[in-house]
Amino acid sequence: MRQVLTAVTVALVAGHGWAGPPPAGEFKDWNPPKTDLNLTEAVAVQALCDGLTQAVRTADIEKAATLFDFPVSLVTDDGTAEATGATLDKAHWIGAVDSAIEEAARSDLALDAQCSVWFLSDALAQVTVRHVATRQQYQKKWTSILLVVKRKGAWLIKGMGGRGWGSLPTPPRGMTPRASLPPAQELFIKRCATCHGRDGRGQTVIGVELQVPDLTDPALHARLSDEQILKQILDGSVDADTGRQRMTAYREKYPEEELRALVPVVRALKKKPSSKR
Ligand code: HEC
Repeated sequence: MRQVLTAVTVALVAGHGWAGPPPAGEFKDWNPPKTDLNLTEAVAVQALCDGLTQAVRTADIEKAATLFDFPVSLVTDDGTAEATGATLDKAHWIGAVDSAIEEAARSDLALDAQCSVWFLSDALAQVTVRHVATRQQYQKKWTSILLVVKRKGAWLIKGMGGRGWGSLPTPPRGMTPRASLPPAQELFIKRCATCHGRDGRGQTVIGVELQVPDLTDPALHARLSDEQILKQILDGSVDADTGRQRMTAYREKYPEEELRALVPVVRALKKKPSSKR
């Protein structure tokens, strides 16, 4: 087996023809299509990758979706040394990435990405994306990859891979289509999960930075009345020392009954005595 793999690698690098005598068997006549690298194609793939960065920057999820060839593969891990992959249609893809894109587009998070393209063939390329996110004095760097394909003359994204998406506020593994959620839950994911996490534990980039309380903690639920939870949502909170906003006030942003509907959503996050997380 090892022999065969080595031979195939050589063939791919050489483009066509065997270096030395061809092996017997099914690989004998296999020649991977030759890549005819051309600047126009390189520019087109680069523009696709830049377009995705721009759509993420402006949280324009519909624009971002036009850059994909659905169904799309997402491959990632969640920091548990196990990786996972999923193939998603458009609705599931939006459900999987929208809160991450919203967080990325927060006005105080400056995003930059460098795309480098590696053509595997005339219709298939791998793009390595080096991301830098800057927020105040904090900087975060990570790398992801895109698998892009040429379909009917246009370059589109067919697959994405990157580390840690499994621990995003909306992990791709959640894969719930957006439309199937009740509106209050929808609002929690859209507005609250960037800090508190979809699961309420606050393990998001901003949540950890702000040291948000764990909304699954039974002690928090015992301490707070429904009215106090509503008040927190209506008025938010400010840092007593610096006067800076810690939690957004939503009073002016949504009708009160929509905000009141969030109280049972918060209550439902409470950890059951039996669950061990
Ligand atoms: C910008 C980040 C951020 C967002 C967005 C946010 N929160 Fe918070 N939340 C916090 C912080 C920080 C605290 C802790 C309060 C403090 O220390 O000032 C908190 C506290 C809470 C508490 C506990 C209050 C207490 O007294 O312990 C609840 C409940 C809560 N948030 C619900 C929500 C809901 C519901 C939403 C969405 C409508 C939301 N939060 C959006 C940052 C956020």
